Amino acid sequence: MSKILVTGGTGYIGSHTVVELHHAGYTPIIVDDLSNSNMQILDQIEKIIGVRPAFHQFDLCDAAKVADFVNSNTDIKGIIHFAASKAVGESVIKPLKYYHNNFFSLINLLQAFQEKPINFVFSSSCTVYGEPDTLPVTESAPVKKATSPYGNTKQVAEEILAETAKAHDNYRVIALRYFNPVGAHKSALIGELPLGVPQNLLPFITQTAIGKRDKLTVFGGDYDTVDGSCVRDYIHVVDLAKAHVAAIQLLENGNPNGNYDVFNVGTGIGYSVLQTIAAFEKVSGKRLNYEVGPRRDGDVVQVWGDVSKSSKELGWTAELGIDDMMASAWAWEKYLKENPIG
Ligand code: NAD
Ligand code: WQD
Repeated sequence: MSKILVTGGTGYIGSHTVVELHHAGYTPIIVDDLSNSNMQILDQIEKIIGVRPAFHQFDLCDAAKVADFVNSNTDIKGIIHFAASKAVGESVIKPLKYYHNNFFSLINLLQAFQEKPINFVFSSSCTVYGEPDTLPVTESAPVKKATSPYGNTKQVAEEILAETAKAHDNYRVIALRYFNPVGAHKSALIGELPLGVPQNLLPFITQTAIGKRDKLTVFGGDYDTVDGSCVRDYIHVVDLAKAHVAAIQLLENGNPNGNYDVFNVGTGIGYSVLQTIAAFEKVSGKRLNYEVGPRRDGDVVQVWGDVSKSSKELGWTAELGIDDMMASAWAWEKYLKENPIG
């Protein structure tokens, strides 16, 4: 079956996608510089799928290395490009790190495939919608001015891809706009591995429950939402991984919408922070130590996606709900306590 290059394949979403590509009959090849992941994840993937995926460690910002790799792997049929720096807060402090890494890696890959037919799936984000005017937000909603350099890299990367696909027939591109990826593989062998203090809600919840953090602060309880806390569309990482397989398949079969397309990848359901905590407490049987604190600067109040286009045209729908998300995230945190990685 086709070889698919998975950049960032030892990272959180990449590792789950490597597993789902294998299950769908593809041969994933990973490129990762391990700047935000760990070589042990390869062992973990091998435990799940029974084979060790091909792995190449280098920085995609190195144009010569990317060109060498592409020239010696001429049978690659598709790319799923996860590799990027992703911490919103850090991007405000170190904007050049984000512009450098997220743009050079993308442009080097595109240039290395000049003239060669290539199916390209890009990791975009619902962050491009900012605070949407209408909910659920559809793919045709306006892209709002980014509030962080990280968010800006996603917006501009989408433009780079759209313009490149328009100018050159050989690039067939789908950008997937993820809502909030959470959870872990059902084996609890792979999951999210945050560096240092987690900035995202789910790892903060599970680390608090396991005793690594004292207390979770809910950022704001006075918003105009169902219960005053912010609302998000959480998506199980395994469902998200399967959306990438669906995107590769749509590109292989010829996307009737043309060379560049965009899809929302979420469940279409919004949960507040307090509802998410309640779901975690229910499935884990643990009381979470939390308090409602001040708002976090720059937070979107509420966002959830319209996923009808993904369902109709990508042929993909999320199957796992909030309980599976919480249970698998919790199982992974408990696994990590017994089997530390990194
Ligand atoms: P991650 O940090 O776990 O994975 C990214 C991987 O890319 C890491 O393994 C890192 O070592 C690697 N990498 C980074 N720069 C590289 C480079 N120059 N060369 C080679 N490897 C490099 O992140 P993730 O959560 O799996 O996110 C994957 C993608 O999805 C990113 O593009 C991210 O912006 C996007 N995304 C993530 C979320 C989220 O909440 N996790 C939401 C929307 C979009
Ligand atoms: C979720 C909710 C917080 C931590 C970020 C990026 C976005 C995308 C996903 C990549 C919010 C609340 C959180 C805590 C809390 N990434 N929260 N206490 O902000 O939706 O999106 O990650 O593209 O671009 O901005 O995700 O997990 O940080 O927060 O109350 O300790 O949990 O206020 O309402 P967010 P998150």
